[in-house]
Amino acid sequence: MPTHIATAPPVAHAALLGLGVYRPCRVVPNSEIVDKIDSSDEWIRTRSGIEARHWADADETIVSMSTAAARDALAAAGLEAGQVDAVILATSSQMVLGPSAGAIVATELGMHDTAAFDVSAGCAGFCYALANAANLIRSGQARHVLVIGVERLSDLLDEHDRTCAFIFADGAGAVVVGASDNEGVGPVAWGSDGSQTAAIKQDKDFQQYFAEVAEAEATGGTTVRPYIRMNGTAVFRWAVTFLEKACRDALDKAGVAADQLDAFVPHQANSRITDALIRTLGIPDSVAVARDIAHTGNTSAASIPMAMEQLLRSGAAKPGDTALLLGFGAGLAYAGQVVNLPAIA
Ligand code: UT7
Repeated sequence: MPTHIATAPPVAHAALLGLGVYRPCRVVPNSEIVDKIDSSDEWIRTRSGIEARHWADADETIVSMSTAAARDALAAAGLEAGQVDAVILATSSQMVLGPSAGAIVATELGMHDTAAFDVSAGCAGFCYALANAANLIRSGQARHVLVIGVERLSDLLDEHDRTCAFIFADGAGAVVVGASDNEGVGPVAWGSDGSQTAAIKQDKDFQQYFAEVAEAEATGGTTVRPYIRMNGTAVFRWAVTFLEKACRDALDKAGVAADQLDAFVPHQANSRITDALIRTLGIPDSVAVARDIAHTGNTSAASIPMAMEQLLRSGAAKPGDTALLLGFGAGLAYAGQVVNLPAIA
């Protein structure tokens, strides 16, 4: 007989208890971007829905933005940092390989000896992290988990790139997940397709870049640093064809019909993708739809908590409302789940 290994006592249900965000101070309107990409305010508004975005200043780092959002999430949940047992931070724009940003954020928040790690799942990162957090709660492994989505994508932008320069932006959003009397986080519908990595990626890895730098130094030539690149049409096509199934899977797993939703919070990639999903899913006009992209741009792993906050702050949705979340992007990876919306500070 193998030695018996005990398990933590599970709890029945997990829910989002509190939400906070950080929006960088600097607002960048389309007019500041258009000349370098031979574009116009009108083209960007009509093709993407973006009117302006926030780009972080030097002191608005991955860690500082995350810490600010997390403080508000804890306040909204009425919890102290010491009551959190794990921090899961989703990002694709932390510019160091280690340590994890999550560990530094945990310490900045005053946590001691708290489990902390980062998740890399592109724009699906927040929903991936949320699924893991809810499972940590339900398995009894953590009392509360802090989930953070955060990006400084402006660091990765080639300002002359017509596809990326106007889309991507910076910010942070955080939720506290904890035990609940009723289920507040439905089963996740998720997946990835590594055959489509070229659709959104860093255009060269650091080994390639260092080799180019060495050659440039030897020959007196020049090299260009790595940037994020996207085949916008390929991603757009995948989003408006494949993601209907992802949404239906998430709804089916939660036993919720589209017309029972109060809110729809898709990743803020492009307002035309949101419109297409609303049409194909038959989401009725009564459902509040997140349109945070207009003034926030596409903040990748941060976009869903930031868009939830905008819906709640505006009064279009309220805490406890039933919402479908859907993250999607680089990977190509996606994750969606039905949740009850949390409180905001
Ligand atoms: O967050 C991760 C997931 N990301 C996404 O989901 C993004 C998905 N993709 C998109 O949002 C869209 O593909 C973009 C907004 C990036 C581009 O919109 P599009 O409608 O797919 O544009 P397109 O690349 O098909 O180009 C249409 C036209 C072309 O001109 P012609 O050939 O029709 O004369 C382009 O040259 O628009 C032109 N164009 C631009 N014009 C002004 C392309 N980029 C620009 C630009 N400004 N920035």
